[in-house]
Amino acid sequence: HGTSRVNDKGHLEIGGVDTVDLAKEYGTPLYIYDVALIRERARGFKEAFQKHGVKAQVAYASKAFSSIAMVQLAEEEGLSLDVVSGGELYTALQAGFPPERIHFHGNNKSRDELMMALDHGVGCIVVDNFYELELLEQLSKQYGKKTAILLRVTPGVEAHTHDYILTGQEDSKFGFDLNNGQADEALQKALSSPHFSVMGIHCHIGSQIFETTGFVLAAQKIFQKIGQWKETYGFIPTVVNLGGGFGIRYTSDDDPIPVSEYVDQIVEEVKKQASEKNIPMPEIWIEPGRSLVGDAGTTIYSIGSRKDVPNVRHYVAVDGGMSDNIRPALYDAKYEAVLANRVLDEKNEIVAIAGKCCESGDMLIWDLPLPKASPGDYLAVFCTGAYGYSMANNYNRIPRPAVVFVENGEAQLVVKRETYEDLVRLDVPLKTKVNK
Ligand code: LLP
Repeated sequence: HGTSRVNDKGHLEIGGVDTVDLAKEYGTPLYIYDVALIRERARGFKEAFQKHGVKAQVAYASKAFSSIAMVQLAEEEGLSLDVVSGGELYTALQAGFPPERIHFHGNNKSRDELMMALDHGVGCIVVDNFYELELLEQLSKQYGKKTAILLRVTPGVEAHTHDYILTGQEDSKFGFDLNNGQADEALQKALSSPHFSVMGIHCHIGSQIFETTGFVLAAQKIFQKIGQWKETYGFIPTVVNLGGGFGIRYTSDDDPIPVSEYVDQIVEEVKKQASEKNIPMPEIWIEPGRSLVGDAGTTIYSIGSRKDVPNVRHYVAVDGGMSDNIRPALYDAKYEAVLANRVLDEKNEIVAIAGKCCESGDMLIWDLPLPKASPGDYLAVFCTGAYGYSMANNYNRIPRPAVVFVENGEAQLVVKRETYEDLVRLDVPLKTKVNK
């Protein structure tokens, strides 16, 4: 997929660059992003809305993968940006991202984080709870600002891949409950404050969703309320944000639907609802993370040790694992992989790909058909672009990998590999040892 292909050496090539050369130059584990594919995904979302001639913003959920270069790429593609912490906000500002196109999320934003957002003129704060509503009102007052906000609601629609759950009251740490009066109270409070400009409503129903139904139901539920709010408070939203969650193909078992289908369904439902409730068509905002960068990322590892458990399994270990991709350990996530330096060789055994961390759960793939692999070979694991590097950690004091962008035959290092010095940089030695 994307610009991936096999070159005449039988190596995996991405963006016109030989991944084996990249592994040799930058070391492994190495994250490689296919920039052209990220652009294609971004344009896919934007064009899907443009086709309908409706006003929309596509905000990249930077939690999926945040770095200065990534944020700059999102800007180049005309995306907005969703940040969920001071750290993601800082990264966005360092990248020179226009603050007015940043949306600030999170269920426990601190006073400092909110002040940082106000200081920099962040476009919109997605208010999650009553505590935040009060805190932000105080701060806005201090700043003499009228802060643009969305209210995050939990509509009682929860989507899980091919399933969705409808609940009267959702047991979630996020947002104002739509069904028990919380959202009404929050809206009333927000509207009565001179320090807020309430742009609209936000909801996010889940992640890695393969169905449009959940989005349509969420829109229906939200508009049911919007209809009431129009009568009760004279409130008319200018924005309806339906969150992210669009599913991608990790393995051949996954069957994602085209982005345009989600967008078509969402736009049609919002149009229908707006006309039924007799309100002007609001702007539609969405916040894809995974579906913008997930399949654009590939991780290259070096093959290391091997353990054969007779009649049971062949363990083949790589030089990374749950430290650079915790998703298999955390969510039982599935991936596919090939030998980057021998893509077309006959796959004559089924192996289990183990990480190098000191625990048995550190397995990347349980059953992978591969040519007989040995040290000197490179493993390329596909679709690691979302929530891979962003959830990487230093368990076992393993340095985090480097990240490279490739496009049109060129590679650019965008995140350096961590060094051992980096690992101890924040450590403070015992006083007694320092004084000696
Ligand atoms: N908007 C909100 C409010 C969210 O909470 C999320 C994801 C997104 C947008 C983006 O969702 P996406 O389009 O990427 O599905 N670490 C997990 C995923 C956690 C998603 C959390 N929220 C994983 O590795 O699968």
